[in-house]
Amino acid sequence: MSGPHQDQPRVFQMWTKQISKLRVLTLSLASFAAAGFFYSLVPDSEWRQKAEDSIMLVDWSGFGPEKGLYNFTLVTAMIDIGRGDWDSQARSYSTYLLYMQRVLRLDVNIVVYVDPKGKPFIEWMRRGRENHTTIVTMTIQELPYFQLKDRMAEIMNSETYKEGNELVAKQLCESSSPEYDIVQLSKLYLMDRTVTLNPFNSTYFIWMDGGYGKGENVHPPDGIWIPKGLFEHADQMTFLERKPGVAAFASVRQKIHKMSINIMPGGFFAGGGSAIRELYRMQKHELARWMEEGIIDDDQTMYMQLYFQKPSLFRLVPADWYDVFKLFNAHTST
Ligand SMILES: *[C@@H]1O[C@H](CO)[C@@H](O)[C@H](O)[C@H]1NC(C)=O
Ligand SMILES: *[C@@H]1O[C@H](CO)[C@@H](O)[C@H](O)[C@H]1NC(C)=O
Ligand SMILES: *[C@@H]1O[C@H](CO)[C@@H](O)[C@H](O)[C@H]1NC(C)=O
Repeated sequence: MSGPHQDQPRVFQMWTKQISKLRVLTLSLASFAAAGFFYSLVPDSEWRQKAEDSIMLVDWSGFGPEKGLYNFTLVTAMIDIGRGDWDSQARSYSTYLLYMQRVLRLDVNIVVYVDPKGKPFIEWMRRGRENHTTIVTMTIQELPYFQLKDRMAEIMNSETYKEGNELVAKQLCESSSPEYDIVQLSKLYLMDRTVTLNPFNSTYFIWMDGGYGKGENVHPPDGIWIPKGLFEHADQMTFLERKPGVAAFASVRQKIHKMSINIMPGGFFAGGGSAIRELYRMQKHELARWMEEGIIDDDQTMYMQLYFQKPSLFRLVPADWYDVFKLFNAHTST
């Protein structure tokens, strides 16, 4: 027998297949639409930025032909202090990596200090610039200032330190987490170490926080950075200076570690090898004084104190947090 009887099941099967395909399609379209709808409900939220940054990240296919300037060295770090577990001011490790992709896309020589678990991410981001990348793995325990952890905790718990302290009142991490201050204050140590290591034979070094810009698009979109207005000041340390400026605090310098101010951001600073060496040497002495006198704070206060000690070593450029590429880039991105 031939005809419709035999064919019916096949046709039926075909139809059910089509229908289920259609259903899958409709369902996924619906969920896309729903996702899009919910997505549009949360403009400017941290989640939206995370989603966008994640898409930006998975789209990264590595560097193309060399187009940058390679006679200076950028230094950055990503050392976990377990901030993702904090009750307040929590910021997860993965959020930091999402921020950090913008720094790692810069087509420059870069030295990255990172804990072992972050290394594969750095390698993945630097594909195509292996010859312009040095990765040094380290943990917080290996930083020299880690030895001061107990003393820092002791200071943070002391009544003298807490008295009249705006940072304590605001529960800011620089007044409660020794690990946070250890890492922040270690930037100069890492810069000094890079000057010694000098894998790219540079005379000029730039520090940039891994989280510089905190996910804002402040870095050049094509990654090309031809610094301007920096190299000619290699005998000084260039820092950004926010309003109302460091000088405004000269008369209260004894207590700036208890004040909630952000005048000399630590997210960026730069200088020649000798200037960096000198600043690190000065910081070691100043930190020893802090430990003796029961003072602790993050690197911003440290830089202000070092400025008061030797203004001629500094070149302060009026700016806001994320102005680096507005101020110091000769290249116009395409
Ligand atoms: C790097 O090279 C550029 C272009 O040749 C030059 O203008 C600049 O002074 C050099 N910078 C350093 C730190 O050597
Ligand atoms: C890196 O340097 C090596 C040795 O000089 C060279 O053979 C290789 O092609 C370079 N890699 C890239 C990606 O430029
Ligand atoms: C390193 O740079 C100096 C000049 O700053 C130069 O004389 C020397 O040959 C360079 N060394 C290497 C290995 O590139």
